[in-house]
Amino acid sequence: MFESDGCGRCCLSFILTLGLTALFFWLSLRTDKPKCSIEHFYVPALNKSLNSPHNTSIYFMLQLNNPNKDKGIHYDNVNLTFSVSNNPNATSVSNNPNTTHQIGNTTIVGFRQGHGKKAKKWNFTETNGVNWTAFRHVLNNSTVVAFRVDFATAVKYKILFWYTKRDGLKLRANVEVDSSGEKVPRKKGIKLTSAAPLPGGCYSALVVFSVNLSLLLILGFM
Ligand SMILES: *[C@@H]1O[C@H](CO)[C@@H](O)[C@H](O)[C@H]1NC(C)=O
Ligand SMILES: *[C@@H]1O[C@H](CO)[C@@H](O)[C@H](O)[C@H]1NC(C)=O
Ligand SMILES: *[C@@H]1O[C@H](CO)[C@@H](O)[C@H](O)[C@H]1NC(C)=O
Ligand SMILES: *[C@@H]1O[C@H](CO)[C@@H](O)[C@H](O)[C@H]1NC(C)=O
Ligand SMILES: *[C@@H]1O[C@H](CO)[C@@H](O)[C@H](O)[C@H]1NC(C)=O
Repeated sequence: MFESDGCGRCCLSFILTLGLTALFFWLSLRTDKPKCSIEHFYVPALNKSLNSPHNTSIYFMLQLNNPNKDKGIHYDNVNLTFSVSNNPNATSVSNNPNTTHQIGNTTIVGFRQGHGKKAKKWNFTETNGVNWTAFRHVLNNSTVVAFRVDFATAVKYKILFWYTKRDGLKLRANVEVDSSGEKVPRKKGIKLTSAAPLPGGCYSALVVFSVNLSLLLILGFM
């Protein structure tokens, strides 16, 4: 009787150890995608105080945050494309290429980012084929002009000394600009979101739940 009990205990702790090790590996290998936002977006052609409807530049600052506490990120070149709606009064720019047109693009050269770090990328793009006069008329009615920014890159994560495989990352944001030429709201960043966001909250809750369950099991059997 005693012997088989001992064996059962041994077996159980072996399984638990195995389970915990697996959980530990899974926790240390899982990665969080970078969090990106547009912190500045300035269109001189739309600034009412300037009379420069022929200035075709858009200036912006893109912020990329690495939320991983212990993993670096390597970004490939980041492609950014800018679009407006064919209807100057629209307050958002749809995904349908039939009702929008691309007005500019630019590339941010790939880079490496340490764990927990923030990168601020100031850049600009020259636009073409935009009737800024028409957009300025829209702003006379105290509304906003909407732009869409599409972000495309691939990232890989550095875990200790090696990199994970590349992961495509496609994000977008709808940016509204008022007659100051700056985005609204002015002070708050605009998050770039993926077309189909993953239920991140649910996922983390599940992890916490399984860790708690394992701890309870261990405590119960010790
Ligand atoms: C865009 O227009 C083309 C031709 O008119 C049509 O075949 C296509 O379905 C349209 N696309 C969308 C997404 O509406
Ligand atoms: C630009 O828009 C204005 C106002 O809507 C219009 O009068 C003008 O003809 C347009 N210019 C071009 C080149 O389409
Ligand atoms: C501005 O608003 C007026 C009244 O609502 C409208 O008649 C006019 O077409 C609008 N202008 C533009 C450029 O949207
Ligand atoms: C970015 O643009 C370049 C050149 O157009 C293209 O070769 C590359 O595949 C693009 N990258 C992504 C992630 O879309
Ligand atoms: C708009 O232009 C005015 C006049 O040059 C300038 O003082 C102001 O800073 C510009 N607005 C923004 C948001 O940069």
